Amino acid sequence: MKQGDMKKLLAILFLVFGVQCLTGPEQVHIAFYTSPWDISVTWITFEDADPALSYGTSTASMQNITGTTNTWKFGGIIRHSHVVILNSLKPSSQYYYQIGSRVFTFRTLSANLKSYKVCVFGDLGVYNGRSTQSIINNGIAGKFDFIVHIGDLAYDLHSDNGKLGDQYMNTLEPVISRIPYMVIAGNHENDNANFTNFKNRFVMPPTGSDDNQFYSIDIGPVHWVGLSTEYYGFEEQYGNTPTFTQYNWLTKDLEAANKNRDNVPWITLYQHRPFYCSVEEGADCTLYENVVLRHGALGIPGLEQEYIKNSVDIGFAGHMHAYERMWPVADLKYYKGEEAYHNPVAPVYILTGSAGCHSSGMKFSPIPMPWSAHRSDDYGYTVMTVANTTHILFEQISINKNGGVIDSV
Ligand SMILES: *[C@@H]1O[C@H](CO)[C@@H](O)[C@H](O)[C@H]1NC(C)=O
Ligand SMILES: *[C@@H]1O[C@H](CO)[C@@H](O)[C@H](O)[C@H]1NC(C)=O
Ligand SMILES: *[C@@H]1O[C@H](CO)[C@@H](O)[C@H](O)[C@H]1NC(C)=O
Ligand SMILES: [Fe+2]
Repeated sequence: MKQGDMKKLLAILFLVFGVQCLTGPEQVHIAFYTSPWDISVTWITFEDADPALSYGTSTASMQNITGTTNTWKFGGIIRHSHVVILNSLKPSSQYYYQIGSRVFTFRTLSANLKSYKVCVFGDLGVYNGRSTQSIINNGIAGKFDFIVHIGDLAYDLHSDNGKLGDQYMNTLEPVISRIPYMVIAGNHENDNANFTNFKNRFVMPPTGSDDNQFYSIDIGPVHWVGLSTEYYGFEEQYGNTPTFTQYNWLTKDLEAANKNRDNVPWITLYQHRPFYCSVEEGADCTLYENVVLRHGALGIPGLEQEYIKNSVDIGFAGHMHAYERMWPVADLKYYKGEEAYHNPVAPVYILTGSAGCHSSGMKFSPIPMPWSAHRSDDYGYTVMTVANTTHILFEQISINKNGGVIDSV
């Protein structure tokens, strides 16, 4: 090939692929907004673009809708985060949405929602993201209705000026453009810029803070609450005002949820750092930070009393890169035995931080804490099946065992 032809070919290749890469919508994902039938659609472009999409229950009849754009700069890179809220969608319906030339689809949950399945995990990175393919495959196959990622995403969203975050979101796009992806911040979301990367990449229900740090939403028979433990973890850096703001909101939210149990009987909470664990690193969750978080200290209110007072049923956490299911436990008092899960008198905590990230090989303490019911250091994630208003099933999926269930209760 002559040099001129080569140049022409490169120019054509750039036009075909390059421009699309620079301007195309990417990192497309959806999340629940104020209800399961109000969905936020979020995506990123690197060039200025309209926050517009078209959507409908068939590709033949789509309506246009315009949202908002938030332009932000990190590490010298300008990103445009676009969000469109699709309000009051029809239940049990297949929807299609098109951004630019790209078409995606999702299905809304049923109106009289009684049962559904949720994929729950923490601590999933780009490198050593052992569970990623399984989550994508099973999510697309309809094995769960939405995903809850309890902090520590990509490792880190802000690495390489945010390019690792871009890569992570693009890898997960096939599943998170299709089923809601609910997130909270972990310690790895601290980008030393007040969680800029986390806040600008996600839209969560605006029911708690308006910056994705804490929120709640009713989904069928479950009241879900997502919290930030990072207000505690990085108090020195960002001050303790947000800790109090969250605590005051939580008190009211749980009180209201507890009064509403006739309609929404379950309360499930998720937070990045755990109250209870039996791993070696983190000294069995007896470190000062865990104790402050759980119990409070020096005027900082701990969270556990609120959970106990309002009879929270389930508490998910990550941060420790292992799986551990606890017996019902409240303020170190535990209730051992399978029958303790029947009408439990204390919250049941599940540590599920083994999805896969760069720091592998979490060691357990030689002797489990007395509230520990089951431990595993296999890579994997949890699938929670809400059966109805009285039964919930937890299954731990192991990547090491080819997606097999290694614990269920
Ligand atoms: C939606 O917007 C596109 C592109 O701007 C336009 O071609 C189309 O006619 C619009 N559709 C409706 C139903 O308004
Ligand atoms: C961090 O961001 C929040 C809004 O998301 C703001 O209210 C707060 O003042 C910021 N804190 C610092 C220390 O910049
Ligand atoms: C709730 O689900 C459990 C487990 O599938 C089942 O045994 C039970 O009969 C169900 N209860 C009601 C009221 O449907
Ligand atoms: Fe963490």
